[in-house]
Amino acid sequence: MSIRTFNIHSYAMNYVILDRNGNLIARKFFSSLNAASYDKIVKYTTFDKDSSWKKEMVGFIDGNNKLILDLACGTGILSTFIGNVSAESRIIGCDLTFEYLKLAKSRQSYLLLTNSLAEFLPYKDASFDVIISSYLAKYTELSAMVREHWRVLKKGGIVIIHDFTYPDAKMMKLLWHTYFQILNQLGKVITSWKYVFSNLDKVIQLNPWVYNLERELDGIGFRSISKKYYTCGTAAIVWARKL
Ligand SMILES: C[S@@+](CC[C@H](N)C(=O)[O-])C[C@H]1O[C@@H](n2cnc3c(N)ncnc32)[C@H](O)[C@@H]1O
Repeated sequence: MSIRTFNIHSYAMNYVILDRNGNLIARKFFSSLNAASYDKIVKYTTFDKDSSWKKEMVGFIDGNNKLILDLACGTGILSTFIGNVSAESRIIGCDLTFEYLKLAKSRQSYLLLTNSLAEFLPYKDASFDVIISSYLAKYTELSAMVREHWRVLKKGGIVIIHDFTYPDAKMMKLLWHTYFQILNQLGKVITSWKYVFSNLDKVIQLNPWVYNLERELDGIGFRSISKKYYTCGTAAIVWARKL
């Protein structure tokens, strides 16, 4: 079912559609059409907040010499951040979009990459010390993703999950919607991002991923589950440990 069928007034029903078809939405959003411009787009459309959020995420990685899975690594921006601060760690990237992985490989040839789904990982049990992801939570089927996190993470390992959120405050909501109206117009000029720019707001607004993720993490046994909101509630990082 197409994301265009969303009706934000019938929230409960549409959330199910979003949850089940997360992969479909991601496949429509990310392709060879926009892979080459992704890094610039994420930098400018977030007013470079993307860099500060990623730096915060990397700050949650305790210690060095880790095996780290950058889930939905895209073009490898986050992997590069990790490599810069944790030089002795080994980073494996995984993403469903082949064209994004090709770019990641061409830029950071040291990266080990797999073309796979977050809900169905091709790694052995208890492989990783850290699983980290940026902008994946809203596209994925969270329960399957969390099950795989639990399976491939070592005991004592941590998960760090970041994505956009829909702000709570009334004034921020107003600004947020105005911003997306501008982005929508921008899509008429930057046509390779038209579909994303006109649908991303609905994907974020309809997906209370922080709440759902906390529930899934707790349900499977993760502990020390914590969260922090950034940039007036427009993004969040959730982290937790497998004890
Ligand atoms: C906005 S990009 C983020 C890329 C990178 N994490 C970053 O922060 O720059 C979202 C990425 O998530 C990937 N993705 C979406 N759903 C996925 C899934 N279920 N499994 C694996 N990758 C997924 C897409 O292919 C895309 O590369």
